[in-house]
Amino acid sequence: MAKVAFIGLGVMGFPMAGHLREKGGHDVTVYNRTAAKAEEWVKTYGGTSAPTPAEAARDADFVFTCVGYDDDLRSVTIGETGALAGMTAGAVLIDNTTASAEVARELYEAARAKDVDFIDAPVSGGQAGAENGVLTVMCGGDQPVFDRAKPVIDAYARMVGLMGPVGAGQLTKMINQICIAGLVQGLAEGIHFGKQAGLDIEKVVEVISKGAAGSWQMENRHKTMNQEKYDFGFAVDWMRKDLGIVLAEARRNGAKLPVTALVDQFYGDVQSMGGNRWDTSSLLARLQK
Ligand SMILES: NC(=O)c1ccc[n+]([C@@H]2O[C@H](COP(=O)([O-])OP(=O)(O)OC[C@H]3O[C@@H](n4cnc5c(N)ncnc54)[C@H](OP(=O)(O)O)[C@@H]3O)[C@@H](O)[C@H]2O)c1
Repeated sequence: MAKVAFIGLGVMGFPMAGHLREKGGHDVTVYNRTAAKAEEWVKTYGGTSAPTPAEAARDADFVFTCVGYDDDLRSVTIGETGALAGMTAGAVLIDNTTASAEVARELYEAARAKDVDFIDAPVSGGQAGAENGVLTVMCGGDQPVFDRAKPVIDAYARMVGLMGPVGAGQLTKMINQICIAGLVQGLAEGIHFGKQAGLDIEKVVEVISKGAAGSWQMENRHKTMNQEKYDFGFAVDWMRKDLGIVLAEARRNGAKLPVTALVDQFYGDVQSMGGNRWDTSSLLARLQK
């Protein structure tokens, strides 16, 4: 049993912190900007809450963060009352936010200046993956630190991999999002075409999902896409944040991402339709309108 802090109890963080307590059996202290959610977490799982990230992180062996954008992450880690202010030498800061590789390197340096270790550890698997404790975790950092952190991360994960030095976790998550963007647009176009052709989409998917066109998105999203239901899942706003990070990194490393750039603009159209919180499968909505 380790002493653990978890900062950011959103859709993802709330159940992830829960698994650290229930499955991992750790002594968990939580912090959330909106205190009511921290109170709700303590009521649900036990453990304790603290009024600042620094206080939550005090004397913790492992500190997890899962917030929104790069600057949110900076504020809960290197800010005045950020986690690093409460952490002591030998502790590990593990960031589950989907953020840039640059901020990961920045936090690694800030942590090392205090003899604290850092792992970037973005996740894939969505809300359901977080709730069921079966996330895929893509890590960047030093091998001995990863070896210490992995058994703790295992509480909310099905697959945990060290992808390379600090930032490599975020770079891997970028590849994940590149692969999803083009695929979901293809799926949206397929379903749109099928509807125009007057075919039974359920029947079509039942057959083609067993062949070379099958995918997680097809399996898990075709039903709701067919019903044009999008009020759940991974929000378009988050996807645009992620694709923004991807396209900025591609400008730096010279990768050509024409389809990803196009799909990013399509998600911009979905936002203009009011779909900011719609699931990413809502690319179909702009074809159906
Ligand atoms: N949702 C998914 O399916 C999914 C899947 C994979 C990865 N992710 C990534 O995981 C991260 C979290 O996603 P989520 O869906 O859990 O988001 P969310 O439900 O919107 O929760 C965001 C959390 O971050 C906190 N936060 C944001 N800005 C903050 C700040 N400046 N200071 C302190 N706390 C701050 C929020 O606090 P309040 O409660 O006070 O607002 C909340 O606890 C994002 O980077 C997202 O891209 C999400």
